[in-house]
Amino acid sequence: MTVLVVGAAGQLGREVCRVAAARGEVVGLDRAALDVTDADAVRAAVSAHRPSVIVNGAAWTDVDGCELDPDCADLVNARAVGHLAEAAGAVDAHLVQVSTDFVFDGSPIDGELVPYPEDHPTFPLNAYGASKLAGEAAAGPAATVVRTTWLQPADGPGMVGRILAGLAGDGPVELLGDRRACPTFIADLVPVLLRLADERVPGVVHAVNEGPASWADVGRVVADAVGADPTRVVAVDEADLGPPRPARRPAWSALDCTVLRDLGHEPLRHHRDAVAATVARLAG
Ligand SMILES: NC(=O)c1ccc[n+]([C@@H]2O[C@H](COP(=O)([O-])OP(=O)(O)OC[C@H]3O[C@@H](n4cnc5c(N)ncnc54)[C@H](OP(=O)(O)O)[C@@H]3O)[C@@H](O)[C@H]2O)c1
Repeated sequence: MTVLVVGAAGQLGREVCRVAAARGEVVGLDRAALDVTDADAVRAAVSAHRPSVIVNGAAWTDVDGCELDPDCADLVNARAVGHLAEAAGAVDAHLVQVSTDFVFDGSPIDGELVPYPEDHPTFPLNAYGASKLAGEAAAGPAATVVRTTWLQPADGPGMVGRILAGLAGDGPVELLGDRRACPTFIADLVPVLLRLADERVPGVVHAVNEGPASWADVGRVVADAVGADPTRVVAVDEADLGPPRPARRPAWSALDCTVLRDLGHEPLRHHRDAVAATVARLAG
């Protein structure tokens, strides 16, 4: 089975390439090797490699940039997905499209902030979310659309590393406290994503580490993991961090992994355990 990874230099693409290579043949194409907005180039690459799975790691993930240039957001995050879906269809490859919690607006369900299930109505607050939602549709009904949140790298410091650096100094460590989602560790996500690809699961599937949290909550978990004083972590509101950013963001965008559970997949571990593993990796 050949897995073709586009956007292979991104934080998710790199890990998909690494894990897929350990299981079989993988072709990773970064943006220089394949610009996914070029329909002819996508068709040519897919017909040359004839993959059985295509994982789309390519996206324009600069949320504020997307707000300022929604046409470009649509080109990369939606229309390019259509090119991939068409090319995948021509060689019977299964497409895995990665999407986002930003398709939701943060509003409660029946008056309560509970994680959104896959079938909850979408309502993006910003151009990035709108473009990713259009990308879900462009992926087509046969594709697996994996929605995830607040991705943390498998091969770099990410937020855990930044929090550790803050805790290594003295004084308070200020972290956002007024937005919550499910911090998700790419090392845990990728095996799930590849299993969904193997099973050619169609439709939207939420895949996140367990435990909705703000970055301030994660900061306290990191402090606990290294024996630092958790009261050094100070929760701040986004509004206190500077002038408003171009794009609005949902204050609540935790996802419920209903479909994964129904498929009989093991849920992703709690983010606390993933934080501990990341602390150990960064210390090693
Ligand atoms: N990061 C998060 O917190 C998060 C949360 C939820 C969902 N997601 C979704 O998860 C997926 C992976 O995100 P990520 O965090 O790995 O993003 P990332 O690190 O920003 O990687 C995206 C990659 O796409 C490449 N790319 C951009 N335009 C391209 C084009 N026209 N053709 C080919 N490649 C192109 C980028 O290349 P350049 O660097 O050269 O531009 C980059 O290597 C995305 O679909 C994203 O929407 C991310």
